[in-house]
Amino acid sequence: MSLAIMHKMEIKGLIFDLDGVIANTADLHYRAWCKIGDQWGFNLSKAQNEELKGISRKDSILKIANWAGKSFTNEELDAFAFEKNKNYLSYCQTLGIKDILPGVYDFINASMNKDLKLAVGSASKNAKIILQKLGILDLFSIIVDGNMVQNSKPNPEVFIKCAEILELEPKSCIVFEDSQAGIQAAINAGMFSVGVGQEDLERCNHKIKNFEGLSPEQLINQLSN
Ligand code: BG6
Ligand code: MG
Repeated sequence: MSLAIMHKMEIKGLIFDLDGVIANTADLHYRAWCKIGDQWGFNLSKAQNEELKGISRKDSILKIANWAGKSFTNEELDAFAFEKNKNYLSYCQTLGIKDILPGVYDFINASMNKDLKLAVGSASKNAKIILQKLGILDLFSIIVDGNMVQNSKPNPEVFIKCAEILELEPKSCIVFEDSQAGIQAAINAGMFSVGVGQEDLERCNHKIKNFEGLSPEQLINQLSN
């Protein structure tokens, strides 16, 4: 079964970003980047952090070094990225079911009951570890993560790969994203986009504060209006 969205259009698949959409991990990434910035006497602002959301670890360290006016060799940058990840994973140690964002679990289950196909499309190389810690790794048979793509969002590679594995056309997929780079990636992929959490996200087809009380039918109706 699939859910009709317009006369000739059908939504058959849902693709979820991980950090900031499924999991309460976006702040942990920020905390770990701030710790690197602190070493350089650089204060990473919240506004700058918004620009880091959805992009890869390597691209993030490049951006931060640039903002800080620092010039490093590739090896030094890799070492800082490694250190950031070590700190990030230490912050993630206590992650559990309590860190799944509001309504996500029920929304995923309701979507599976409607036979919608589900995937995770994330820039994070830690996606499987995080899903495992949250206790929901088994809910997703398809996970495209930062280890499987060459290009960071807003490049659509991660979402296109999800659709290919789901065997769906991009126009039959909805992407859920909390970052502007991710919304742009969904647009570039030719998919519908739903902005999650951030009020100032631009160009998405629809925005939600979180998944609490939301059903897939309701969302698809709202998208078609
Ligand atoms: C994205 C996050 O999902 O993954 C970014 O929004 C993060 O903040 C990126 O930098 C890469 O994650 P990781 O876990 O591979 O360092
Ligand atoms: Mg995100």
